[in-house]
Parts: sequence; C-alpha cells; structure tokens
Amino acid sequence: MRKDDENSKDDENLDSKNSDDFVVTPWTVQGQVDYDKLVDEFGTSRITSDILERFRKITGEIHPFLRRKIFYSHRDLDDILKRYENGEKFFLYTGRGPSGGVHLGHLIPWIFTKYLQDKFGAELYFQMTDDEKYYTSDKLSLDKTYDLAMENTLDLIAIGFDPKKTFVFTDTGYMKTMYGIAAKVAKHTTFSTAKAVFGFENSTGIGMIFFPAIQAATCFLPSVLKGYNIPCLIPAAIDQDPYWRGIAREVAPKLGFYKPAQMHSKFMPGLGQGGKMSASQPETAIFTTDSEKTVQEKVMLSFTGGRATQIEQRKLGGQADICPVYNYYYFLFEPEDIELKRIYDDCTGGRLLCGDCKLMLASRTKKFVAEHAAKREAAKEHLDEFIVEDESGGLKKRSETRH
Ligand code: TYM
Repeated sequence: MRKDDENSKDDENLDSKNSDDFVVTPWTVQGQVDYDKLVDEFGTSRITSDILERFRKITGEIHPFLRRKIFYSHRDLDDILKRYENGEKFFLYTGRGPSGGVHLGHLIPWIFTKYLQDKFGAELYFQMTDDEKYYTSDKLSLDKTYDLAMENTLDLIAIGFDPKKTFVFTDTGYMKTMYGIAAKVAKHTTFSTAKAVFGFENSTGIGMIFFPAIQAATCFLPSVLKGYNIPCLIPAAIDQDPYWRGIAREVAPKLGFYKPAQMHSKFMPGLGQGGKMSASQPETAIFTTDSEKTVQEKVMLSFTGGRATQIEQRKLGGQADICPVYNYYYFLFEPEDIELKRIYDDCTGGRLLCGDCKLMLASRTKKFVAEHAAKREAAKEHLDEFIVEDESGGLKKRSETRH
C-alpha cells in the first residue's frame, strides 16, 4: 500500500505535530503518513484477520475496503461486534465539515458507512459542522457553510442511505437539541486536555476551543434522545481520531455512556505526486460536481509512477505503489482483486503504459461521477426526508413538519 506525502487539508489554522516527519490532525494532513506509526501514536488497534472473519460470519463477505486494509484500524470494534452478536444494536455516526464541494476522498467513509447500515440495519447520525468550518475559514460566512451543508447532504443522499434510518443535522440548526449534551462533555474537559489533543494556542478562537465538545456530543445524542444507552460506531478517516481519543472516550464513562467505537480509514490520495485528496488542491481532487471534461483532464494530467520514456517503462515497469492512478483502482475503481492484480502486474511488468492506464481510469471515473451526479440531482427532492432540526423537534424530519 502506498504512503501519502506532502498534503494539506482544507483548513490549516490549527496544527499539532504527530512526529518530525508527518502531521495528521482533524485540520491538517501533511508529510509522509506512516499509518502503522499512527496506530502506535494514537493507541488504536489494527483490524486483524480475526475481526475480518467475524465480519464474514455476520455479513457473508469481506468488503473490499476491509480486505484491502483501506479501513485498517479501530477502537472497540470487537466489542461492537460482540454486542451485535448478542442482539444489541449499535448506531453509526459520521460527518462532514462543509467547507466546499465533496470530493471522492470524502465518499470513502460514506460508502463504507452505507454498507454497514445495510448489513447491520443500523441508524446513521450524520453531523454537518457548519460552525466548525465558519470558525476555521477566513472566507466563509455562517450562512454559506449552512448552504454548503445542504449541498453536501445531496452527496450523502446520493450514496443511497435509508431515509428511515438516517438523521442529518447541521450544528447551527440542531444546537438546542445538542447543547445540553455538549455542555456536559465540556464540563468534563479541561483546556489543557484540549490543548494537548488539538494543539490549541492562545490565538485560537474560543469557538474552536469549545467545538470538540460539539463533535463529541453526537456520540451520545441517540442515547439521550431515546432514553437508553446505545453503542456508537464511527467510520471515518483516521484524522478525526483526536475527538474520540481525547474527548468522547474520556468523558463517556463519567456521563454514564458507552465509549464510542471507531473504524479508521486511510486517505484516498490526490492526483498529484503524493498527498491525500484535498479540497485545498482542487486540480488534484475529483469533485462530485466536476464535469466529464474536467474529470478527463484531471485524470489525464495525473502524476503516475511511470518511467521517463516508453522504452524504459517497458524495460523496468511502472511503479504502481507510488502511483495515484493505480491507487484509484485500489480504492474505488476496481473492486475485483484478480483484476486489480492484473493491472498491478501489467504495470510493474512494463506491459501497461501510463497513457492507456489513465484512459481506462478516466472512463471509469467519468462513469462513476456521472452516475453520482444523477443521483445527487434526484436527491434534491428528498432533502427534507433526511434533515432533523430543532424546529421539527427531536428525531422528526423536516418532511414531517414542513408542508
Ligand atoms: P471533513 O469534512 O474534513 O471530512 C469528511 C470525512 O471525510 C474523511 N476524509 C477522507 N477520507 C478518505 N480519503 C480522503 N482523502 C479524505 N479526506 C477527508 C474524513 O475523515 C471525514 O470522515 N469535523 C469533521 C466533520 C465531522 C465528522 C464527525 C467526521 C463531524 N462529526 C464524525 C467524521 C466523523 C470534518 O471536518 O470532516
């Protein structure tokens, strides 16, 4: 599996180093990410073959994201599976900071979350942190981040979540419901903890200092609304771990809730040389709203692991492990392992040249984006079936109260 380097997330005002050579925080991903080292630094556990077997027993298969170790690390997943095997249902929690358009990288945790919803019949609580993105951006107004949250929800609906089991909210639209829980989380979290976990400084705005309590609060929201304790499983890339490690899991026992469990993914790379797919580098990210022409151009201009000349390529073979094009097949565009291996072998054996490989990827990516765009368009009719807000109250959808 390749490693990421030199990448940067949407907002870079906040920073906290993991080690000398790479940084992974909720706001910044930079340097050559050593995913194994992150497991040790964050104190998470690897998803072992034992756990995969348990998945197979329950779901009858092992999803490509698990087989390929795209989701590779966890906290308390064994506990979630044990409870499920004993008849106790869990809920899913994930989210989005609406700072712009959705790119393919964002879809990785959402596609997997939808798979888990289908297989385990779990409810999903999806948080749109319009407040967070207002705090961390110099350019976005609060109205704009709210509008982006609604836009991003269309992408979420396009993934195919079940409206009966899916509850999407913005922080500003649901704060009356959330605030009591966030206040309890905040009461048990000191500034020195938040500083140590997130790298906050004296110059950090106080909105951001309180914000982790809001992102952590969702871990307990269904338990509070329903009046009994429900286990929580959070699928997300590993950049979000500090919220769970540093805040939610620390306060959970003090508030009488289960500690939330997590499944962590790696980052889908951008199309440049190294680096995760990031909205801050739009030329190397594929957005769900990109036109066919734009997708074609971006893929054809992608960095590859190819050699300087065709002759060299045929002689030495390409370097699939460092190639974003190969990685796109690995993450999203070639689910069959045998086919993926063929692409890998043909590339490294010098039989598949980069131009042809890119053309094949461009056509698959265009098809994916076009199909997603059509579902996204259709989702406009269904937005209110997903959104919960204070105005409607509790878990009532907008569609139940707005006529
Ligand atoms: P945000 O908007 O930065 O990211 C949304 C989700 O996408 C994941 N992600 C990626 N996954 C794979 N490859 C990539 N290149 C890539 N880039 C981003 C992120 O890990 C995240 O899962 N504060 C959060 C919003 C939030 C949230 C949550 C996220 C609120 N509650 C609970 C996950 C779980 C944010 O700004 O995410």
